[in-house]
Amino acid sequence: MSKTIAVIPGDGIGPEIMAATLSVLDALDCGLSYDTVEAGMIALEKHGDLLPKATLDAIAKHQIALKGPLTTPVGGGFTSINVTLRRHFDLYANVRPAISFPGTKARYNNIDIITVRENTEGAYLAEGQTMSEDGEVATSMIRNTRKGSARIVRYAFEMAVKKGRKKVTAVHKANIIKTASGLFLNVAREIAKEYPQIEFNEMIVDNTCMQLVMRPEQFDVIVTTNLFGDILSDLCAGLVGGLGLAPGDNIGEGAAIFEAVHGSAPDIAGKGLANPCALLLAAADMLDHLGMVDKGNKLRQAIRDTMEHDRDHVTPDLGGKGSTQSFGEAIVKRVKA
Ligand code: NAI
Ligand code: MG
Repeated sequence: MSKTIAVIPGDGIGPEIMAATLSVLDALDCGLSYDTVEAGMIALEKHGDLLPKATLDAIAKHQIALKGPLTTPVGGGFTSINVTLRRHFDLYANVRPAISFPGTKARYNNIDIITVRENTEGAYLAEGQTMSEDGEVATSMIRNTRKGSARIVRYAFEMAVKKGRKKVTAVHKANIIKTASGLFLNVAREIAKEYPQIEFNEMIVDNTCMQLVMRPEQFDVIVTTNLFGDILSDLCAGLVGGLGLAPGDNIGEGAAIFEAVHGSAPDIAGKGLANPCALLLAAADMLDHLGMVDKGNKLRQAIRDTMEHDRDHVTPDLGGKGSTQSFGEAIVKRVKA
């Protein structure tokens, strides 16, 4: 196939991990062309705008973006660029796979969990945050809607069917947050009935944390509201060895943005020390999304084989002596083999 995607290299380690990722995508021969656009500090310096209109236009046009991490300047009242992108394109599903890879210091080696987090409502609203005049009482609002709950739960079940997954767990706190979390749970129960081929269960969020740490193999797909999904997906990333291996897919009806979960890592930028795997795994998810599931799986397998057998080439965070570039080159060799 031939398809153009928007590519945003980003800040800090972004250009390094993006270069490694694009060379692997080229080696996979998936017929992609890249429309490279800017966002973040680099865009602010060049164009006076953290998120130039040309970048938004490119994402809207191609409907798919591969994005490196962006630095949002602290102070000066800048809104996070990532939050702006989510709102602008209504990227309601944040899909966070956590898969065990060999050669990590992770506690478990048998994890394959996808967290599907609602990305637009719940406890993460811009409005409804108030502070009393005397500073003694602060209030934040949680708002879930039937429509918002339904579309995220449906997304999770449809994804489960497409990817051949067996079970969906809805995570909630409906026993205490009776209205907002209760609405989400009720909607999840209703929609689950439409998918009899997929096992459905529900779990309270605090118990879920304990179960994830003690018996993570019981989980397959987790679907949950914004705040719980934020926390649980990082917990899952920790179970498989940390942020260097965690991709994040932001999916909406009109656009999808694939990225690494980690940030721009200014402490190691420009030194060739960044692990490119999180962005590579995001690229694999992007290939799935584009209907190139075979290529996506081939990429994941090449990453796995490289981590297992080419220990000299992996980056120091995984205990290797390699660089971003040598890691990328080792993966290129494997996808070409
Ligand atoms: P960070 O994820 O950039 O770094 C945390 C620690 O993990 C650092 O020690 C870093 O060296 C290490 N690390 C991160 N990615 C790595 C990789 N691929 N390979 C090896 N080590 C890696 O988080 P931090 O320091 O809190 O944020 C730095 C900047 O990134 C901030 O400006 C923040 O706003 C931005 N950020 C952007 C995100 C995005 O664009 N999606 C997400 C998170 C943070
Ligand atoms: Mg988070």
